[in-house]
Amino acid sequence: MDFLLAEEHKMIRDAARDFAKKAKVGVIERDTRMAYPTEIVNEMGSLGFMGIMTDPVYQGSGLDTLSYVLVMEELSKVDASASVIMSAHNSLVLYGIEAFGSEDIKNKYLPDLASGKTIGCFCLSEPEAGSDATSQKTTAIDCGDHYLLNGVKNWITNGGKAGVHVVIAQTDREKGHRGINAFLVEANWPGVSVGEKEDKLGIRSSDTHSISYNDVKVPKTHRLGPDGFGFKYAMKTLEGGRIGIAAQALGIAAGAYELAVEYAKIRKAFGKPIIEHQGVAFKLAEMAMEIESARMLVYRAAVLKDQGMPYGYASAMAKLKASEVAMQVTVEAVQVHGGNGYVKEYHVERLMRDAKITQIYEGTSEIQKIVLSRNIAQGEVQLPI
Ligand code: CAA
Repeated sequence: MDFLLAEEHKMIRDAARDFAKKAKVGVIERDTRMAYPTEIVNEMGSLGFMGIMTDPVYQGSGLDTLSYVLVMEELSKVDASASVIMSAHNSLVLYGIEAFGSEDIKNKYLPDLASGKTIGCFCLSEPEAGSDATSQKTTAIDCGDHYLLNGVKNWITNGGKAGVHVVIAQTDREKGHRGINAFLVEANWPGVSVGEKEDKLGIRSSDTHSISYNDVKVPKTHRLGPDGFGFKYAMKTLEGGRIGIAAQALGIAAGAYELAVEYAKIRKAFGKPIIEHQGVAFKLAEMAMEIESARMLVYRAAVLKDQGMPYGYASAMAKLKASEVAMQVTVEAVQVHGGNGYVKEYHVERLMRDAKITQIYEGTSEIQKIVLSRNIAQGEVQLPI
């Protein structure tokens, strides 16, 4: 067991750290104005982050999941809005198309997605089907050479910017989850309409919308995977997505912690820097311990995926732990900053708001516990230790 990053991973982490410095410029204003980070997303495309794990055959970077996690962690320390754009695009869109799409679909869509020219979104959640993902109301009726898609999807990350949508819909209700399919839909096809941008508590500059599909004709060739595979498609996709969000949560926590340490060394009270007061020093020690334990789980989930081992259990655990740590650590980071922590200029209040969503999207904390407890009950826990 090796706890040290390889040189190539350190280089990727350092490159992401440099890039994150640029992303920090203007982050407060973007958050306030809910402004989409266009330039940052374009640069992520140029750096190869928008197709970070995609095969170079399709113009991806062909890097491993650990590299993806390292980039997500560094970027999330400063801008969790930019990092969720990258995460949803890579994990929920490119991964599934590459793993389950036909060669024609991959050749047609992946190069532009992997280079960041086209943005993707993943449309699973509905007004009445968030956690209970089998209760899809969106229908895709089989009409011979095409499907007719109708329904509404909610809280769709990248919804307003995406040129490619992966949409999960019910084809045959009688068959339950085996009647669900996944489709690749182009945003400019007739019948696709995007609702207003959501005004959110956190990750405010990410682009979140509802999307309606009204009699959208989807060619048969655009079904991803065999008939009835859509629910499993979504579950497989989310298993990897949860590693991305776990890395986001880890980065948010680590970013807030680094700011708290820096501040505690400078800020003086009662004649000495507050880091020399035990009340603050102990907080920092606990924050560091929690972050390190989350980091081990997040990196391990990534490495299991890279080694071709089952990783659904590990990714659920990493996401659950890292999102809890993100929430606890950011609240404490605000506390260490005192009154300054409550104003935008010091960044920690934004990180605290951003942390909350990591306990909600890609499966709430309760969903992760369902995944974990089912694995435990079925004796399917396969970890190296
Ligand atoms: N991989 C492959 N197959 C899987 C699977 C996995 N990880 N998990 C379940 N399945 C299969 C099962 O084997 C079963 O198939 P069979 O009947 O053939 O054996 C089938 O799927 C149904 O499984 P369950 O009975 O376990 O399904 P369930 O209805 O009880 O649901 C759940 C399980 C874990 C609760 C699931 O519904 C779930 O994960 N819900 C949360 C959905 C979610 O994360 N939504 C987030 C939206 S996306 C988002 O947030 C994106 C964003 O904007 C950033």
